[in-house]
Amino acid sequence: MESERLRLRQFTVDDLELLVELDSDPEVMRFLTGQPTPRSEVEDVVLPRMLKVYDEHPGLGTFAAEEKTSGAFVGWFGLQPTADPTAVDVGYRLSRTAWGKGYATEGTRMLIDYAFTELKVDRVIADTMAVNHRSRAVMRRSGLRFVRLWHEHFDDPLPGTEFGEVEYAVDRRTWETRSRA
Ligand SMILES: CC(C)(COP(=O)(O)OP(=O)(O)OC[C@H]1O[C@@H](n2cnc3c(N)ncnc32)[C@H](O)[C@@H]1OP(=O)(O)O)[C@@H](O)C(=O)NCCC(=O)NCCS
Repeated sequence: MESERLRLRQFTVDDLELLVELDSDPEVMRFLTGQPTPRSEVEDVVLPRMLKVYDEHPGLGTFAAEEKTSGAFVGWFGLQPTADPTAVDVGYRLSRTAWGKGYATEGTRMLIDYAFTELKVDRVIADTMAVNHRSRAVMRRSGLRFVRLWHEHFDDPLPGTEFGEVEYAVDRRTWETRSRA
């Protein structure tokens, strides 16, 4: 899959180092786990889980994003199944050097278009911590709209958990109307 500046591809077992490095930046992980992901966890849990989704949910999964001009790995974009078979969840994680270039919005729009045109879903959703303003801005710029705010209990909450979690979404009809405009 390609957009103007990005190319998406499936991860393979050979991509371990890329994922370890991405998750080693505490700033990247700030609103996810708050800390770097141990290498062993990326190797034993994160990457195998990604590969399993390709098999179990054709068309879905987490995709490595590369700059078309340089081939450099910039992070990932993903579409995950949800409890609702007609809806998918979009997510993204970019290395800090790739922030501030519009890549997250470009990749997210590409996956939303793909979800409606190829996967024929009825709804695309996304969620994040309410305090993750950069992520919320990506959601808004990608055409997702605020749906709800809720609070979850965590035994070891991240700073900002008290402000809750937010969900954004776009349904097929809204997406079609905007695509035609
Ligand atoms: C969330 C995340 C992907 C957002 O990245 P981002 O760089 O802020 O978002 P975009 O790629 O859409 O870039 C937008 C910025 O690029 C700027 N920009 C520069 N060139 C641009 C271009 N050609 N087109 C569009 N925007 C451009 C925009 O003005 C905007 O700048 P601003 O942040 O100063 O307003 C990134 O912060 C991240 O990976 N965080 C860690 C993981 C995470 O929290 N994921 C979400 C969990 S749900």
